[in-house]
Amino acid sequence: MNTIGLPQKETKNIVSKLNDLLATYSVHYMNTRGFHWNIKGKEFFELHVKFEEIYNSLIVQIDEIAERILTLEGIPLHSFSDNIAHSKITEQNNVSDGKIALQYILDGYKTIIVLQREILALASHIQDEGTVSQMSDYITLQEKEMWMYRSYLA
Ligand SMILES: [Fe+2]
Repeated sequence: MNTIGLPQKETKNIVSKLNDLLATYSVHYMNTRGFHWNIKGKEFFELHVKFEEIYNSLIVQIDEIAERILTLEGIPLHSFSDNIAHSKITEQNNVSDGKIALQYILDGYKTIIVLQREILALASHIQDEGTVSQMSDYITLQEKEMWMYRSYLA
């Protein structure tokens, strides 16, 4: 067992998945900053503000995920090269169409939610309630956000 009473091997596996999640959030964050900057057209003012809200919430979660990794005695990834190597989503460049940007945001969140459900299941298996509740909170929040983005696009 580690210092917080969780089994070493299973916890290392969760840390590895949390690092993939952290890298995925980091690419999703930078993509969203790009959308905030480059968006053009009639919805500029509302989407510019909405994208800022999204990346501000992502940066909070990025910090929380990194600190969960440290709590589990792991080392969080943070370099650009590690983020690219570990991310489950790809970088997007120069997107100026609001609908395309929102679709990328929806796709990114879908990938993130699927990964979080996988981590939640692994953490649940070893009664790692701290990780379970963190994943659970993110999933609930993001699923609701996705409904709103879908409604906007409809
Ligand atoms: Fe800005």
